[in-house]
Amino acid sequence: MTFLFNSDARRGAVFADAFAKELPDVPFTMDAATVDPDAVRYFITWTAPEDLARYRNLEILFSIGAGVDQFRLDTVPEQVKIVRTIEEGIVRMMQEYVTLAVLALHRNLPGYLAQQRAGDWRDIPQLQAGSRRIGVLGLGQLGQAVLDRLKPFGFPLAGWSRSPRRIEGVTCHHGEPGLNEMLAASDILICLLPLTEETRGFLDANLFAKLPQGAALIHTGRGPQLDHEALVAALDSNHLSAAMIDVTDPEPLPTGHPFWSHPKIILTPHVASVTQPATAARAVIDNICRHRSGLQPIGLVDRSRGY
Ligand code: NAP
Ligand code: GLV
Repeated sequence: MTFLFNSDARRGAVFADAFAKELPDVPFTMDAATVDPDAVRYFITWTAPEDLARYRNLEILFSIGAGVDQFRLDTVPEQVKIVRTIEEGIVRMMQEYVTLAVLALHRNLPGYLAQQRAGDWRDIPQLQAGSRRIGVLGLGQLGQAVLDRLKPFGFPLAGWSRSPRRIEGVTCHHGEPGLNEMLAASDILICLLPLTEETRGFLDANLFAKLPQGAALIHTGRGPQLDHEALVAALDSNHLSAAMIDVTDPEPLPTGHPFWSHPKIILTPHVASVTQPATAARAVIDNICRHRSGLQPIGLVDRSRGY
């Protein structure tokens, strides 16, 4: 019953140490070339290899990140559980990033940076937090964690999910009518949706048109959810005021892509959250223990929904 690790060696060393201490009866290896494929019961990786089927006794395929859109779910044998990694490092970093982005957009940072470069000392009219409405697309682990971290600032908070949710201090919406209602009342829209066939291309011209004049976008979901041209058009027409973008398609963006130099866009290279090995190893070991005692792993993917 071997655990096969496929990621960078620095993280691997932390995982190896944690397995040796906490799950000594599960041999740990990073060497796919020499491992006995029939011994592999657990496998963690970012992308699934073409020859996944060689691990005939595989029980859990772990994604090393919070998303699983990089796997082709239909090629993973039916009996294998697909589990994403939800760990406190990913959650905390997403809270930090989104708080940074919300405050940057709320306090007109893109505008002040442009003014600084132009030698222009001038204040920009400032809304108070109580008048800046925040809408979060996706009320899962990360959407909820982000909303929780934003509560003390006093922004009116709303969120949208597929199924109905109740979250204290947050106006929760769901389904199509709920989406339109939330968009019309979102001065800062945050995307934390998983990438599925339903959310591919979701952030498009039609959606931007439903946001209030002057709204801003924070995109930390997945690159293929965003229509790049539609975003640039909405910014250039002044319908949207600014955007902070962490994920793009492709990654990295090609030289000369408008996002690199657009004055209303702050771009980061998919770093909002990065899996932290010590806490991720803890989460994976806990999940193996849950699985071995007949419980569902936390972060089990529902193949029919795609997340
Ligand atoms: P999660 O717990 O699975 O939550 C997903 C949320 O999205 C749920 O509330 C779900 O609704 C909602 N949703 C999914 N499809 C929907 C649809 N078609 N219509 C309406 N709502 C829909 O996921 P998470 O852990 O919060 O992570 C979200 C995503 O963040 C990941 O999939 C990944 O792509 C992204 N991410 C990005 C970074 C980064 O560094 N940029 C890092 C980590 C993760 P229900 O509640 O009804 O199921
Ligand atoms: C990163 O994007 C992740 O899915 O953890």
